[in-house]
Amino acid sequence: MKKICVIGVGYVGLVNGAGISDFGHKVICADIDKKKIENIKKGDLPIFEPGLKELIDRNVKSNRLLFSSDIGETIKKSDIVFIAVGTPEGDSGKADLSHVYDVALKIAKNLNNYKIICTKSTVPIGTGKEIKGIINNNKSNSIKFDYVSNPEFLREGSAVKDFLWPDRVVIGCDSNKVFKSMIEVYQPLFRNKKPIIQTEISTAEMVKYASNAFLALKISYINEIANLSEVLGCDVKMVADLIGQDGRISPKFLHPGPGYGGSCFPKDTKALVNLAKQANVPIKTITAAIDANIYQKKRMFMKLKTLLKEKIKGKTISILGLSFKPNTSDIRESSAIDIISSILKAGGHVRAFDPIANNSMKKIFPNIEYFSNWEKTVSNSDCAVIMTEWNEFRSLDLIELKDRLKTPILFDTRNIFDQRKLLELGFSFDTVGRKKNIKY
Ligand code: UDX
Repeated sequence: MKKICVIGVGYVGLVNGAGISDFGHKVICADIDKKKIENIKKGDLPIFEPGLKELIDRNVKSNRLLFSSDIGETIKKSDIVFIAVGTPEGDSGKADLSHVYDVALKIAKNLNNYKIICTKSTVPIGTGKEIKGIINNNKSNSIKFDYVSNPEFLREGSAVKDFLWPDRVVIGCDSNKVFKSMIEVYQPLFRNKKPIIQTEISTAEMVKYASNAFLALKISYINEIANLSEVLGCDVKMVADLIGQDGRISPKFLHPGPGYGGSCFPKDTKALVNLAKQANVPIKTITAAIDANIYQKKRMFMKLKTLLKEKIKGKTISILGLSFKPNTSDIRESSAIDIISSILKAGGHVRAFDPIANNSMKKIFPNIEYFSNWEKTVSNSDCAVIMTEWNEFRSLDLIELKDRLKTPILFDTRNIFDQRKLLELGFSFDTVGRKKNIKY
């Protein structure tokens, strides 16, 4: 059992802290936000994530997981310090590392015994060196520490599952001794034969950016193939299925849609472009993926306008799904924001519903109407738009949808419905890249 702390109780910190405590270690999760810590202690979590509450409750009960707002004391009590604070987008797409630097300084001031300092936050290549420098320049003793880069690959909505069953764990460090200590942290995974791989620190930092940028690129690629398919009369779902069967490509992240969102892809792609610029190395593919994504979000409104025969003014449009993807209340960079704002600018009315993200969206659009289920939302609307592929929309009763709408017009930006059924029922509809009248 190791004494571990996780600094930063955001999305990454909370899931990792709870997950590591579940592996049998003693973990303190600390954050400067006292209110957040108080709320978590009361059982009120800052994020929604399937299985997280149960994981936290179980480990709090077993006394393995504690929460604190005293960062200094927490660091002193720990042998391994995970840095999991936010690295938001700063000027010109560069990652803002001020929170990471603050924690590094606090570690320097509270370095009371040998510790491993491990960064979970997504940080630009070279940050490990900077963190080591800050600690070395600000500590007031000769106590030693080691540094590890251990990037996280958790997806929102399935973060607990991803933590417990990862594809790989990447440990960037300078010595085998440190690597062995980190293997002990992830012991249950090691026993389950999950690959735990040692790399250099800068390589581990790059793996995170390169993975996220590749996935963003893959999505932008299939979105562009979808747009071309629309014009050339092909069905992108079939195209994606068939190219995905090529083992070199894989079917994952080949779902065309309204453009990627979330807290990672938009920020990490821009940060990688920024890093490349600084290094004076062209990285045109990622710049193109970013541009294609901006266009894809705009294109959704263009398609909606076409579906409504260029008349948005005075129309009531129901938006079903607000989060950037299902199973999360996170609306950061969600395509729903773009389409709602374009509809409002064009003089349309918006009725909105998300199974859990209504409150998040209220902060951005306080004046649109929100509902507690899809049925009420679509009633008397001129058109319904699926923006997030929540399961409850996948299984929605299309006959009832048609009955409730003023006019049976549907825009399925996630391609979740059976087109034949929509045609049969007499919907006027659009999708992303699908052919309407498949002949077999
Ligand atoms: C991502 C990475 O997957 C994860 O490894 C990393 O650590 C954090 O960033 P996340 O942002 O939670 O995770 O969401 P993800 O499931 O990757 O989806 C990102 C966006 O891409 C969503 O808006 C989603 O709707 C979109 N997407 C995803 C598509 O449009 N098509 C796809 O085929 C897959």
